[in-house]
Amino acid sequence: MTANPDPTRQFYEVNAETFVTETRAIDMHSLYAPFLARIPADGHILDAGCGSGRDSRAFLDLGFRVTAFDASPRMVHLASLELGQSVHCLSFQALDWRCEFDAIWACASLLHVKMTELPDVLRRMARALRAGGVLYASFKYGQGERFHHGRHFSDFNAASLKSLLHDTGVLAPIEIWITHDRRPGRSDEQWLNVLLSPGVLSHQD
Ligand SMILES: C[S@@+](CC[C@H](N)C(=O)[O-])C[C@H]1O[C@@H](n2cnc3c(N)ncnc32)[C@H](O)[C@@H]1O
Repeated sequence: MTANPDPTRQFYEVNAETFVTETRAIDMHSLYAPFLARIPADGHILDAGCGSGRDSRAFLDLGFRVTAFDASPRMVHLASLELGQSVHCLSFQALDWRCEFDAIWACASLLHVKMTELPDVLRRMARALRAGGVLYASFKYGQGERFHHGRHFSDFNAASLKSLLHDTGVLAPIEIWITHDRRPGRSDEQWLNVLLSPGVLSHQD
């Protein structure tokens, strides 16, 4: 018996070209700055759920080493054309690197992982980081889970994100901040951005 395909992964597979066209040119440099400031000049970045490869391209152009992956084979193909290097077809849930990366960039991608799966995925990401590493992630600002236009979303505010981190016990926040969507006509949508480092969240955080 074949398992039902995950609808969110199917969404990106079917809409890969449209998604790449809509997102490849978005200028994300203001989000890169606090992340890149914490990585050595020749550092190795994992772009997790890389989509078009827009951010991997920017990191490569700045001289960083980049490994990129995405769960959609079509997206992986398009990103590998953009980057001129192979991109892994992999899901967050199967991530199994150990102490490999100086940093992980998970822009608008972890938000598709179910709440019940996020603790295991965050532990996998923490294991993939070297000592002193950093993880960037962004979620739609809100609370709870929803299914919207064919995709699953896990939304967070600062309090619910800290609660998840506290329960997970492997990553602590360096900084949490809110930004507005950069796509035309969507500036009323807010994003919760977080920089994390391996460590346990204390009750004062
Ligand atoms: C909203 S897009 C963001 C893409 C890119 N990071 C960006 O900022 O433009 C979400 C991406 O996550 C990927 N994705 C969704 N679920 C995933 C999973 N379980 N494992 C890995 N990638 C996943 C999708 O295929 C899609 O490319």
